[in-house]
Amino acid sequence: MKKQIITLVAVASIAAGYTMAYAAAGSQGGGIVGSKHDMNLFLTTNGGVKDTDTRTCAYCHTPHHAAAPGQMVDVQVGGATVSYEVYSPLWSRTLSNGNYDQYVSATFNPALDGKAYDPMMGPSRLCMSCHDGSIAVDSYYGKTGTVAQRGDDLMNYFGSNHFAIGGSYGLANDHPVGFVYTDMQSDTIKYELKGVTSTFIGGTKSILSVLTDIPGVGAVMTCASCHDVHNGPAVLNKTPASGRGYFLLASQTDSALCLSCHDKNK
Ligand code: HEC
Ligand code: HEC
Ligand code: HEC
Ligand code: HEC
Repeated sequence: MKKQIITLVAVASIAAGYTMAYAAAGSQGGGIVGSKHDMNLFLTTNGGVKDTDTRTCAYCHTPHHAAAPGQMVDVQVGGATVSYEVYSPLWSRTLSNGNYDQYVSATFNPALDGKAYDPMMGPSRLCMSCHDGSIAVDSYYGKTGTVAQRGDDLMNYFGSNHFAIGGSYGLANDHPVGFVYTDMQSDTIKYELKGVTSTFIGGTKSILSVLTDIPGVGAVMTCASCHDVHNGPAVLNKTPASGRGYFLLASQTDSALCLSCHDKNK
């Protein structure tokens, strides 16, 4: 009987091989280890130099010698210059100082409206230390690695590798980040947005809790307003058709993520 069960499990594993690969390297919650943000796994698949102590946090954080403490950057807020401190939570990597093109449109142009706009405010700059495709994933702790701009071919819906979110057009073709949410929310003529205390659909996290408070500027929207970089319990995109969670704070089903902020049922 026992033998039979083992055979069945083996067959099921082969059939579910595809799904199992996701379970082993996912982005649907369950923590860093074994996730899409477990660089030891990524470098096993893509080459490069893995951490000799098999640490996972070390690719992004260090207890000592961290990058850019107290580095200041200017941003224009209503015609005045405000200096903000670069967000660098014990960062073990080179921090991006790149100038990326910004998303603007006829209906969205905070700088033109005299509002703060700098896509690099808050944790977004940290994402760029891998996702602009210019800094190798295995460049950390002062080491120079080689593996940049490589992701698996399922990581996009556009037919080619989109690991480099900040590559080519910079951030001009990406959902805007780096502006004060309530600046837009108060503009009810242009925008239909949920209040900052409302929660992500299906979850308990408020919009306010995923905005980064920058002193002198306000609570800004960042990459971390949609993605949980640590693949923690806040990831609610559990059963997407694409088979992966993208570390998203709400489900893709019926675009619950988008409707968590954009009040399009008015
Ligand atoms: C792929 C990069 C990456 C890895 C790996 C990573 N972090 Fe982070 N961590 C970030 C980023 C980006 C932020 C800031 C953005 C945010 O808080 O969402 C952050 C913020 C933090 C913070 C401060 C703010 C907060 O969210 O609590 C702590 C503490 C932290 N990480 C601990 C850890 C620990 C412990 C590990 C390993 C188990 C780890 N991180 C692994 C990227 C990473
Ligand atoms: C240390 C480098 C590094 C940092 C820093 C980093 N990432 Fe990643 N990220 C990766 C790698 C490597 C992958 C996996 C690529 C693959 O396997 O195809 C990935 C994958 C992803 C994915 C796709 C997950 C999926 O389901 O395929 C998302 C979304 C993502 N990262 C968002 C972020 C955000 C947001 C930040 C900042 C808050 C960030 N990352 C910071 C290296 C990094
Ligand atoms: C408004 C929400 C939102 C913001 C803000 C956001 N993302 Fe995403 N991101 C998504 C969604 C949703 C997906 C899943 C793919 C899709 O639905 O097209 C995704 C996918 C990704 C992927 C997987 C590759 C791909 O092209 O699909 C990466 C990497 C990523 N995001 C990184 C980032 C980084 C870095 C930032 C900040 C510059 C960021 N995201 C800001 C919603 C967001
Ligand atoms: C965390 C809140 C949040 C989430 C989640 C979110 N957005 Fe946004 N989005 C905003 C804010 C705030 C703006 C700027 C004000 C506006 O244009 O409504 C914006 C801007 C946009 C714009 C640009 C509008 C313009 O005027 O040019 C589009 C389009 C958009 N979002 C679509 C989406 C889609 C599609 C999703 C889901 C994949 C999504 N958003 C998820 C907050 C969010």
